[in-house]
Formats: sequence, C-alpha cells, structure tokens
Amino acid sequence: MPAYLLVGYSADLLRVLDGFLAPDSVLVMDEPEVLAVRGARDRTGEIACFADVLPAPVQTDADRLPALVAPPPGVSAVLPGNDYGVVAAAVLADAWGLPGPGAEAARTFRDKRRQRRLADEAGIPQPTWREVSDAAEAAEFAAGCPDGFVLKPATLQSSEGVLVLEPGADVAAAWRHTTARNVIGGTMRLDGAPSPCLAERRLLGEEFSVELLLRDGAALFCNVTAKRLLGGVHPVEMGHVVPAPPEGGVRESLSASMLALARASGFRTGVMHGEWIIEDGMPHLVECAARLPGDQIHRLIELAYDWDLLRNWFRIAAGQEPAAAPRRPQGAAIRFLGVRPGRVTSVSGIDEARSTAGVRDVAVSVAVGSHVEPIRSSWERSGFVIATGPDGRGAERTARTASERIVIATEQDALAGA
Ligand SMILES: Nc1ncnc2c1ncn2[C@@H]1O[C@H](COP(=O)(O)OP(=O)(O)O)[C@@H](O)[C@H]1O
Ligand SMILES: [Mg+2]
Repeated sequence: MPAYLLVGYSADLLRVLDGFLAPDSVLVMDEPEVLAVRGARDRTGEIACFADVLPAPVQTDADRLPALVAPPPGVSAVLPGNDYGVVAAAVLADAWGLPGPGAEAARTFRDKRRQRRLADEAGIPQPTWREVSDAAEAAEFAAGCPDGFVLKPATLQSSEGVLVLEPGADVAAAWRHTTARNVIGGTMRLDGAPSPCLAERRLLGEEFSVELLLRDGAALFCNVTAKRLLGGVHPVEMGHVVPAPPEGGVRESLSASMLALARASGFRTGVMHGEWIIEDGMPHLVECAARLPGDQIHRLIELAYDWDLLRNWFRIAAGQEPAAAPRRPQGAAIRFLGVRPGRVTSVSGIDEARSTAGVRDVAVSVAVGSHVEPIRSSWERSGFVIATGPDGRGAERTARTASERIVIATEQDALAGA
C-alpha cells in the first residue's frame, strides 16, 4: 500500500527515491494532461517504488483538492515532486493533518511577487522591484536602475525567461522574450495563463543558495552552496559547490538570512532552497522555493555530508525521526557542460573524464547529430560532471579539469540561428 503521495510528476526524482523507498510505496498526483503527455503511467512498471498515478487538478484547482480527493489509505506523507506541485501538496498535507510547510508559506514561495512582498515586510534585504504588465512599465522601471535590471516571470523556474539587462538594453525585445510562451518547461506545467512579470534592480555580487530541512519551523539541516553563473543576459547556473568555500565569512550570514525568511513565512516542515547574492557584504534575496534544490544539489549534499537529504525529508514528512545526522562536510561540486550551438559532429573524452580521480558521475546528454541550442535556460546545457574532494574548492577543481577533457565539437547548422 502506498505510504507517500508525491504531488507533481518527476521521473528523475522517482528514480532517486527508488534507491531507498519500498516497491509500490509512492502514488503520484498530477494534472491528467501532464500525466498523459509525459507517459507517467507507463513508468510504473519501470520504477519499482512508483505504485500508481492519481490524476487531479494540482495546478488548476489546488485549493479545492481536499474536497475532490480522499486521503489514500496508508498514505502518511504528502510531498511536492516539483515546483508546480508545491501548493497542492501543502494544501493536502494541511487538510489531512500531515506535516508540511503550510499552504500559506507554499503559496508565498510559488510566486516571486509574494515572496518579495514578504521580504519587504520582514526587512530582509533585496533589490527594489515591481510587477510590470507591459514593456513601457518595464522601461520606466529600468530608467531608475543605473546598474541594469532583471526581467523575470513570477511563477516559472530554471531561469526560463529571466534576463539580466545592461542599462540601455532593448526593453521591448526583452519583454517579448520574457513573456513568450515557452514550451520547454511545458511538459511539467499546463499551458495556462502567462506568468506575471517582475522587474528588479540588478544585484551585483557572488551568488549562493541555502538548503534547509525544517521540522515545525526548526532547522534540522542547513547547507550553503556557491553558484557559478553564465555571465551575460541569460543567467543560467553552470556549476555548484557544496559547501560554499568559507572565504569572506558569508556562510553564517546566509544561513541567518535564510532562517529569517523561513520564520517570516511561517514555513513549518519540509525543504527550502533559497538563492541569494552578496552585495555590500550582505545577503540579498534573489528568490526562494519550497522544494528540493534542482541541478543535482541533493547529490552534492549527500556526497559532501555523507547524509541523504531526500531520505531524511521523507522521514520528517512522515512524522519520523531523521535517519542520521550530517557529518562534518567534505566537498562536492557539479560543473555543467556548455557547447557551441550547432550540430554535434563528435564527442570525445567521456572515459577520460570518468576516470579522473575524484569524479563521481559524468553525464552527456548530446550525441553526434544532436542539435544544440544556445544556452538560455537550464534546459540547453549538454551534460555535467560531479566530483568530490577534501573541500568544495578541491571538488570544483576536479570537476572543472574533468569537464575540460570532454570535447564536443559542433558545426553551424540551419537551426543554429539567434
Ligand atoms: N535581481 C537580480 N539581480 C541579479 N541577478 C538576478 C536577479 N534576479 C535573478 N538574477 C539571476 O537570475 C537567475 C535566475 O533568476 P531566479 O529569480 O532565480 O529565477 P528562476 O526561478 O528561473 O531560477 C538567478 O539565479 C540570478 O543569477
Ligand atoms: Mg533561481
């Protein structure tokens, strides 16, 4: 009998869960259309822990779910499988008396406007911002930002539509890009109303994220990750280092800021992943999500702390005690592969990268003949290398060295425009 309800279908996550959950222990709830388009039901035979699907309006009518769905017998935990399931999971956990973040906190972190409002009220440093509803409003806001500004959708993820713009940038073109209907994440979310948009002052500084596991508002685990961003207009994450190197002493202030945000939101139980930029020595909020970090950060945490964030999150969500305490961390890092756009003509060096001492995983998602798009969001990256080391810096060095051994050659093709 399934013990867990995962809201928001993710085959990748289910495969990870298969490492520690019993066969047939997970029910997956999502929009009927999302389950169908992604062929979720077919995977129940392939992923042992995946028991069945439960179609329900998780994106279109989350608040009414308790009236539509009875608690499945045996289910003792409800957790979000992706960003688009965060509110529905929290609503159901509240309604069924199970541990969760609380529907209000979940709503806050599913919408960048709500979290900005909350941070302003709570006095948490962040850039000036406003909601903008057309290019003229965005241009008006941009005029007051001498260091540039950022245009972003309020309810998407993976840097889709996010632009970091220099002063004098073509705001009308930027507006078109940010509000274009994007089909990439479209397999996870329904193609509903377009996302509202935010304009923000551009923060200047190093970027970090903080991962928290909370129970009843108290932190059981806190990690700070350093991020490596693709410079320029498209701020895509190209690497992460766990834990962030201690230089600059910012880890403590980042943890304190993240805990202040969690407290202000009333978040009770679950995982939080917040992004921050250090400006003038102080963490400024970029955004925060009430779900697992993406980009394999949970694996970096597991490697660095010899402690499984997912397993412990599932235990806490089911009202159990954590399985173990995190160790004093070593280092783990991921480096994503960026490839010159075009048609792939050769791929070499994967074995060399794999056999580099300290490398834990290598994945290349393109092959000869693939077409590679320019990187505009996380979806266009071409693979990754994960490495460990005595500390974050050492791990990052190894990941970089190994990733440089992978050579992916491309030639211009008809599709490689823009
Ligand atoms: N106000 C800002 N100033 C500077 N960079 C920003 C700002 N907002 C976002 N960014 C950059 O854009 C990236 C993606 O934006 P974010 O708000 O995190 O959206 P997403 O939900 O797509 O991850 C951030 O990781 C950061 O590098
Ligand atoms: Mg982000």
